[in-house]
Amino acid sequence: MKQAGYESDLFVFQAGEKSKTRKTKEMIEDAMLESGYRRDCCILAIGGGVVTDLAGFIAGTYGRGIPFINYATTLLAAADASVGGKTAVDTPLATNLIGLFYQPKKVYLDIATWQTLPQRQIASGLAETIKHACLADQDFFEYLKQHMDQIWTFDKDVCEHIARTNCKIKYTVVMQDERETGLREILNLGHTIGRAIETVSDYKLLHGEALAIGLAAEAELACQFGYLAKAEQDEMVQLLKEPDFRLPFLLILIGKSW
Ligand code: GLY
Repeated sequence: MKQAGYESDLFVFQAGEKSKTRKTKEMIEDAMLESGYRRDCCILAIGGGVVTDLAGFIAGTYGRGIPFINYATTLLAAADASVGGKTAVDTPLATNLIGLFYQPKKVYLDIATWQTLPQRQIASGLAETIKHACLADQDFFEYLKQHMDQIWTFDKDVCEHIARTNCKIKYTVVMQDERETGLREILNLGHTIGRAIETVSDYKLLHGEALAIGLAAEAELACQFGYLAKAEQDEMVQLLKEPDFRLPFLLILIGKSW
């Protein structure tokens, strides 16, 4: 940025959901003000979902609104957080309670960075990906079943297909109901239970890990209430277990109850 002639500064905070707070927002806003940034600046959010959610919220309120660009470096951010304009911080009561609908000017998905992530982070992003397949696209569901191994070896074509399909599904929904007056609620599949689990785990579970449990629990409820066939529920839980076989504790949680 500096080489291109832009004044720029890095504002860094501790990784993890526990940083997605009003306190971190205030800390970064104060640092930006101190550095002299005014309404003609732009925020470039480089990181995962915590960074893009928090940076988007800061951009939405700083100087009554400045532009922001997301540069997503995790599968979870690529699959969900960086697209769609939901920005927020967490509170002690629950996640994402304070925030804005505020769209980024542009979103970059850097697939090469996925290879630098711990396996838990990839599994976490896969939960959002499986969510999209379950709610919108049976072909994508089959694709994930057949290509799980290539995801773990970061096959370029497979990763690009996943990134594109996630965005297409999310974009199609958000374009029809940006402010979640109805349709967009389908993107919350698994989240009612997942978010509660994430909060009570004190964020020891990653977002996608809690979501995987939420998806399995909601599939069980859907089956009990007659909205989902038993065979479909089994397929869904089986796919959720695939990325998680590297996460013994999560497998135990899912395996014990379902
Ligand atoms: N993560 C759900 C949504 O963007 O609506």
